[in-house]
Amino acid sequence: MATSLSSLSFLFAILLLMHAHAKASTCSDCFIQSRASYYPNSDEKGTDTGRCGYGSFGATLNGGDVSAVSDLYRDGVGCGACYQVRCTNSAYCSDKGVTIVVTDHGSGDRTDFIMSSRAFGHMAQTTDAASSLLNLGVVDIEYRRVSCSYPNKNITIKIDENSSYPHYFAFVIYYQQGKKDITAVQLCETQNFVCKLLDRSHGAVWTTTSPPSGALQVRMLFSDDDGDESWVVPVNNIPEEWKAGETYDTGVQVNI
Ligand SMILES: *[C@@H]1O[C@H](CO)[C@@H](O)[C@H](O)[C@H]1NC(C)=O
Ligand SMILES: *[C@@H]1O[C@H](CO)[C@@H](O)[C@H](O)[C@H]1NC(C)=O
Repeated sequence: MATSLSSLSFLFAILLLMHAHAKASTCSDCFIQSRASYYPNSDEKGTDTGRCGYGSFGATLNGGDVSAVSDLYRDGVGCGACYQVRCTNSAYCSDKGVTIVVTDHGSGDRTDFIMSSRAFGHMAQTTDAASSLLNLGVVDIEYRRVSCSYPNKNITIKIDENSSYPHYFAFVIYYQQGKKDITAVQLCETQNFVCKLLDRSHGAVWTTTSPPSGALQVRMLFSDDDGDESWVVPVNNIPEEWKAGETYDTGVQVNI
């Protein structure tokens, strides 16, 4: 019995190793070569009309280190994702580059990123180098997806200004940490926990024209490329008399 148990755990260890090896070979941490530019006429930070629907929050999020993306936008699923982007000209560029948050959709001449000018400059080694980069306008870069980090923030629901109590409920989700996407959202009433799946109207904006009555709970499905999925259930509900423009702390945060 003892022998078969230990050979079983040996087999298990081998399987684990094979699994780890398979994961490494997909190379999700590798940098991908591309190009980046920046919003020419914007303020130093982002734009508050970004396609993700974050509004003015989208301009100042992450200290203004934000970006529009082209294919990485993925019909809005890419909103809120974080990327490490570094330019490749060793005369100007730092090894670390900059970490940006996706807030908008946009494409240029073979660019994956159109950054705020602030974020673009943050790829440089020095302020002088930053001016040189800005003068170039478009640069070669490499990028990879990284975890978002919002110390001391819970996932927060911002009721869209265009919402109209009680018939039209629209909101965006702020501050999701980690490296996963929010791929589905359920709105649940808190008496019997009857839930309905919401539609992503555009960007990070979720809407319904017939929200349940009473206090509401927003459940979020987090997914990654490997097909791992998990529902995150908030601690706090949205109060029955929710108001357009208000933000509500869900009381939960993820690090996945
Ligand atoms: C809110 O409504 C205005 C006017 O209809 C529209 O321009 C804007 O895009 C809407 N905002 C969102 C986030 O849907
Ligand atoms: C996050 O939520 C927890 C409750 O789940 C709360 O104790 C904490 O104060 C919240 N953090 C912030 C920064 O609001």
